[in-house]
Amino acid sequence: MRVAMIGTGYVGLVSGTCFSDFGHEVVCIDKDADKIARLKQGEIPIFEPGLDDLVRRNAAAGRLQFDTDLTQAVREAEVVFIAVGTPSRRGDGHADLSYVHAAAREIARAAQGFTVVVTKSTVPVGTGADIEHIIREEAPDADIAVVSNPEFLREGAAIEDFKRPDRIVVGTSDPRAREVMAALYRPLSLNAAPVMFTERATAELIKYASNAFLAMKITFINELADLCEKVGGDVQEVARGIGLDRRIGPKFLHAGPGYGGSCFPKDTLALMRTAQEAGTPLRLIETVTTVNDSRKAAMGRRVLDAIGTPPRGATVAVLGLTFKPNTDDMRDSPAINIVQSLLDRGVRVRAFDPVGMAEARKVLPPAVDYANDPYDCAEGADGLVIVTEWDAFRALDLDRLKTLLRQPVVVDLRNIYPPADLTSRGFRYVGIGRGA
Ligand code: UGA
Repeated sequence: MRVAMIGTGYVGLVSGTCFSDFGHEVVCIDKDADKIARLKQGEIPIFEPGLDDLVRRNAAAGRLQFDTDLTQAVREAEVVFIAVGTPSRRGDGHADLSYVHAAAREIARAAQGFTVVVTKSTVPVGTGADIEHIIREEAPDADIAVVSNPEFLREGAAIEDFKRPDRIVVGTSDPRAREVMAALYRPLSLNAAPVMFTERATAELIKYASNAFLAMKITFINELADLCEKVGGDVQEVARGIGLDRRIGPKFLHAGPGYGGSCFPKDTLALMRTAQEAGTPLRLIETVTTVNDSRKAAMGRRVLDAIGTPPRGATVAVLGLTFKPNTDDMRDSPAINIVQSLLDRGVRVRAFDPVGMAEARKVLPPAVDYANDPYDCAEGADGLVIVTEWDAFRALDLDRLKTLLRQPVVVDLRNIYPPADLTSRGFRYVGIGRGA
């Protein structure tokens, strides 16, 4: 099938590439000529394990192309995906749909023959209807069906998630569109991925509801971690204990410094706004966003308390800056709050991240020093904080670390070490929710 993918951000690039890997002919479109030129050279603008190989392989086979010309790609396509950004709108937290609407207008003018227009961007309920309206206005005779097909991939595991999803959700009541979408995803159904067909508005809600639910799960365990710190009990074990109940499930119950990234903070806010305006506020989700924001804001203070409030001019080593491992994405990373509050209290910050330092330099204050590796980072520091659970931090040479640190204090915000590994070596160890 011929596919046009509008937008080469995370979702667009990964989905377009994976569709081409299944044998579909895909043209990825972006207005950013520089980005397209670099993609044509095989240069991938994001860090995502395995993506560069997949792009090069499919581009070489001629199934994956990159272009700035939307018109031609849409004219030739049977399926056109809208995968442009939907950032939070300044001021009110609603998803900013200006890129989505602009893409819809351009698609309307270019489409020829029956064309299925699919929203892959995360968009509020009702957006599919708006897009349909825009297209009818722009091109009254166009033969177009507008479908919602949200994407559930995670950064850092994007290819695996795309190719082996738990489910594929397709929102449409148009039988021709349904057939086209079934054909498009047929290669995936071989991996036993269930395709769920539903109404368009339902599909739009499923995406936000999934992210909001996961954010809620994380926030729940984070609050229980706080409780463990006051009354005793190990939150890791509590999570395991409740997660073995299949009605609860073990995933997304890992306590930490609060969730970040480009999706949970933005999507919970957007869903909250939609619900408030509909007069049916989602009070649980409102609380989740407030609790998570204050958790991230308070995390720097907690780190300092754990280290024992070092004097002004002391140095804290920060390991891990990205919002999670296997990505270079710094968006809404808890590290941003932590670093800022350390600097605000006159503490120097020396940081290391295996992949995210170039991005970090763009968003963190210039006062931050960057190290070459975890040991370089720890040298002479008055304490070390693990903010992101990169694999590279899971088996550090603890004896070496102890000789390098001025004060042997480790604050492990992701609970990646058994406390005894450190305490038996004479470290002071502070995890998250690991007893009073
Ligand atoms: C999230 C969803 O997991 C995807 O299903 C969804 O497609 C995506 O948003 C999106 O809407 O595009 P992502 O933001 O890439 O994916 O990352 P996650 O793995 O979900 O992690 C988000 C945040 O939650 C991270 O800061 C992570 O450290 C935190 N987290 C996650 C925890 O603190 N504890 C956990 O148990 C799990």
